[in-house]
Amino acid sequence: MSLDKINDLGLHNGGSLQEELAAALTRVLASGWFVLGPEVQAFEKEFAAYCGVKHCVSLANGTDALELVLRGVGVDAGDEVITAANAGMYSSTAILAIGAKPVYADIEESSMLLSVKAAEAAITKHTKAIIVTHLYGQMADMPAFRAMADKYAIPLIEDCAQSHGAASGGKRVGAWGDAAAFSFYPTKNLGALGDGGAVVSSSEMIASRVRALRQYGWESKYQVAHRGGRNSRLDEMQAALLRIKLQRLDNWNRKRRDIALAYNHGIKHPAIRLPQVNGEDYVGHLYVIRLNRRDALRDYLKQHGIASEVHYPILDYRQPAVSAQYREVSLPISEKTTSEILTLPCYPELTMAEVEKVCEVINGWHA
Ligand SMILES: Cc1ncc(COP(=O)(O)O)c(C=O)c1O
Repeated sequence: MSLDKINDLGLHNGGSLQEELAAALTRVLASGWFVLGPEVQAFEKEFAAYCGVKHCVSLANGTDALELVLRGVGVDAGDEVITAANAGMYSSTAILAIGAKPVYADIEESSMLLSVKAAEAAITKHTKAIIVTHLYGQMADMPAFRAMADKYAIPLIEDCAQSHGAASGGKRVGAWGDAAAFSFYPTKNLGALGDGGAVVSSSEMIASRVRALRQYGWESKYQVAHRGGRNSRLDEMQAALLRIKLQRLDNWNRKRRDIALAYNHGIKHPAIRLPQVNGEDYVGHLYVIRLNRRDALRDYLKQHGIASEVHYPILDYRQPAVSAQYREVSLPISEKTTSEILTLPCYPELTMAEVEKVCEVINGWHA
């Protein structure tokens, strides 16, 4: 039994999957085509169909996906973009890269996801987009966000880096916003063996802009029609690997959810608040508990050989790189929960015996 990692990528990519992945790499090697070729085209088609949207534009990573999707919906320097502050600085990094301004709105106490009400209250005449992050594998209240974005005619962007496959009423994340950004970083529910990302959208206009921006802003070869372009391409090897892993995604998500449910049944400690994990709108990317003495439990788990993490320890507006501009900002719920959250091991290959062991250790903790 090894619980010293919150995610074991060796196990995740091993066994029969390893053979399939190796065969895919050999196939690409033999094809002699390494960038923007048939594997990328096939993956984009398959992932768009999976998400229930018309277009997928694959990219080099999820942070580029956020930046290019913002550019794709028309965000420019000086514009405001509303986002949560508890989601690891990724959306802020993308907004700042454009020279736009992140405007932080508070989260819901129960889910720790961006609050619709708080986001609506943060709208000004300079607001050019809203980013909703489906943090921890939980889906935000998308019918309410959709209605609000339509009311103000503001583009709604989903950050789905932690929620591949989550759905509500049969409609998956990525299909609710005007466009959505995905990361395929190796630890994600759908992870490459290296970096990768994508923008999905049913808007031909947004998709074609992002497609141009991922390749220097080219409209056609060597003709740069869009500012803000760069090289951000998913390579053929990663696309071939992702095509194989996409076929297993729903099964992995079910396993992650089962693990989360087993934790929820097994953890009986009165000091610990458990997450809501039992719908298809949760895909178990991270299993996050809450408690007042978070750091003490973390130390205790470490003594018992059990890994844990904090996603994330610093709110975006408190990050040293930007905090001077945000001295006036204070979001009470984001601040309170940041000191309470603790992520326990959760990945599809974790065994029920390991989950039981973690529960037993936690239940034996004298807070
Ligand atoms: C919520 C969220 N958004 C964006 C990203 C950025 O993705 P990448 O690391 O592929 O740039 C990540 C994770 O890494 C993430 O967790």
